Amino acid sequence: MSKKLFKNARLKGSQKLTDILVENEKFKKISPCQDKEKSNLEQIDLKGKLVLPPYVEPHIHLDYVYSISTTDFKNKSGTLIEGIQKWSEIKHDRSVEEVKEKARIAINKEILSGIQYVRTHVDVTEPNLTSLKAMLELREEYKDAITMQIVAFPQEGMYSYQYGDKLVEEAIHMGADVIGAIPHYEFTKELGELSLKKVFELAMKYDKLIDVHCDEIDDEESRFVESLATLAYLNSMGERTTASHTCAMGSYNNAYANKLFRILKLSNINFISCPTENMHLQGKGDTYPKRRGVTRVPELLDAGLNVCFAQDSISDPWYPLGSGNLMNILDAGIHISQLTTMEQIYNALDLITINGAKTMYIHDRYGIQEGHDANFIVLDSSDEYDAVRERAGVICSIRKGEYLFKKSPESYETKLQILK
Ligand code: FE2
Repeated sequence: MSKKLFKNARLKGSQKLTDILVENEKFKKISPCQDKEKSNLEQIDLKGKLVLPPYVEPHIHLDYVYSISTTDFKNKSGTLIEGIQKWSEIKHDRSVEEVKEKARIAINKEILSGIQYVRTHVDVTEPNLTSLKAMLELREEYKDAITMQIVAFPQEGMYSYQYGDKLVEEAIHMGADVIGAIPHYEFTKELGELSLKKVFELAMKYDKLIDVHCDEIDDEESRFVESLATLAYLNSMGERTTASHTCAMGSYNNAYANKLFRILKLSNINFISCPTENMHLQGKGDTYPKRRGVTRVPELLDAGLNVCFAQDSISDPWYPLGSGNLMNILDAGIHISQLTTMEQIYNALDLITINGAKTMYIHDRYGIQEGHDANFIVLDSSDEYDAVRERAGVICSIRKGEYLFKKSPESYETKLQILK
């Protein structure tokens, strides 16, 4: 029987230090232990550092990472539409091994930044399903280090790409966990609506989750989120449904937004905002004032809806930057969304932890609770406010009671006495 005691842990929302007893890969006890309980136990002193459930990356495209030349970012307009076109030109020339090799670099970076849960959107609008084959293998290869959900994502359209709907269904048979769509990219509004109906038909037929790239455009008339929420509500699928991006919501007039929020609240769907990606992609048709490109994050949170932040891209035809580090995304996200009251800053870490877990529909087994898998991270900070302000790094990540990694404390050399 393997037993470990992580002592002097500072849990989010509590000023007191506690002990975390791990037994047989699970959290056995989360409260101070008596001396007699500690004897003969391996003990690790966390020295008052902040302990969180692992970071959750709920929206990334691991089959796209590092697919651009670092000296020639070919998406000259820097828009979503040109990104899809450039991707379409290069995606057929890749092998499963090449996709895996690049994705491993990104996954390893994510693990080393404290992520243990990932939802990756995988392009299935390609007859050989190269991306999907690669990701299915990586899901298995990395299962002891990360929990990966795969979205069958028709990047070029469920109906605007030949047999897109059939490829999505084939991807489900091959092992995809989630069904995606991209209604704002379909040739017509009607095809966009049809793609949403298809998503629900497939999700209910195969008992799958839903995550739609929804209204990722500055067009204030792109209103697929109302259809997505309505279908989720009518089919009682809200908690299993996610709207990614919803950038157009930032352009809606307030009269429409007020009406929209009624069905959003009734549906209880999840929202993912990708702040760095959409700050980069959106507003490209504007002069000044220039739109920010992100959805109405504080308003959605105030309405009681679940919102989380995600990276989306790492060096692909849509976005030339990205590192897999969610603390960077959180920092950008709370600034662009103006989530900067003290209460919002204290709660900000929820946007890359528990809110992401809720979106991935894993919340019943996620978190630092007795009986759950002993998965957690330790930040180089003793307080959630400082952690966010300082963009604290993750000093160790533990999965089922074992270290995925442990970092040495940062050190530096200086001749300046004042810095010593
Ligand atoms: Fe995306």
